[in-house]
Amino acid sequence: MAIAMVTGASAGLGEEFAWQLATAGHDVVLVARSRDRLSEVAHLLRSATGREAEVLPADLTTEDGREAVAARLADAAAPVSLLINNAGHGAGVGFTESTWEQERALLDIHVTAPLRLTHAALPGMIERGHGAVLNVASIAARLSNSTYAAHKRWVVEFTQALAGQLGGTGVTATVVLPGLVRTRFHDSDALSHMRHEFPDAAWLDPEGVVASALAAVRRGQTVVTPSARYAAAGTLLRAVPDRLTRGRRSMRRD
Ligand SMILES: NC(=O)c1ccc[n+]([C@@H]2O[C@H](COP(=O)([O-])OP(=O)(O)OC[C@H]3O[C@@H](n4cnc5c(N)ncnc54)[C@H](OP(=O)(O)O)[C@@H]3O)[C@@H](O)[C@H]2O)c1
Repeated sequence: MAIAMVTGASAGLGEEFAWQLATAGHDVVLVARSRDRLSEVAHLLRSATGREAEVLPADLTTEDGREAVAARLADAAAPVSLLINNAGHGAGVGFTESTWEQERALLDIHVTAPLRLTHAALPGMIERGHGAVLNVASIAARLSNSTYAAHKRWVVEFTQALAGQLGGTGVTATVVLPGLVRTRFHDSDALSHMRHEFPDAAWLDPEGVVASALAAVRRGQTVVTPSARYAAAGTLLRAVPDRLTRGRRSMRRD
């Protein structure tokens, strides 16, 4: 049975990806920093679905962490046919107030990690003539207000370029642009204000976002924005000049 790897599988969207994939009959490889939480998710998945769930603890902001995951992706003995680059977090602090360590960690988790892991996964997929990469961006990619938005815009551009280059190989690339989703993402002190700044109707459940993203992968669709509301907002934002989507202060918090 096909193996899917999910980064950021210990919580939120990543955990939901793991559940929907295992329920659909995939074995899964779960990546995140927290070994205990990953083991717990793996145990629950195995008992509920009967699928195999491998635990691969790694900090994707470190070179060692990324290389350990890249090595697993290059393992031809147990080939991964779907890579989901999902791990990520918000900054909650503007560029002029952040530390260099915070900026570097954001860049590494949102840009370096998907770039490295996709690079490791593709040769085997192309050789086997099938496979898929799903990158998790954000509707923030349509804004010009933060380094987070800039990273997510890169994820969209990268995936679109990849989809073009993969034509005729049997391998596909998809990027999903979720709007606000109820996960742990906004739990930090710096981002929790968003929970009451946006109305209930603005918040999506992980189940629907993940189902839409996986349906797009099955169709070989390159870009998907789950929910009609956010799809319409995304189309609108693409049509307006960048200067109108900037924050009041450039590079303000995400
Ligand atoms: N929630 C939203 O409103 C929203 C909207 C648009 C896009 N997104 C995107 O969706 C993706 C998933 O976010 P989420 O909402 O599910 O957030 P979440 O509930 O906070 O989950 C984030 C996941 O990423 C993992 N992670 C964080 N830092 C990591 C690191 N250095 N190395 C490895 N794993 C790491 C976390 O596990 P550990 O802490 O155990 O490492 C966790 O499993 C992110 O890329 C985010 O940008 C979220």
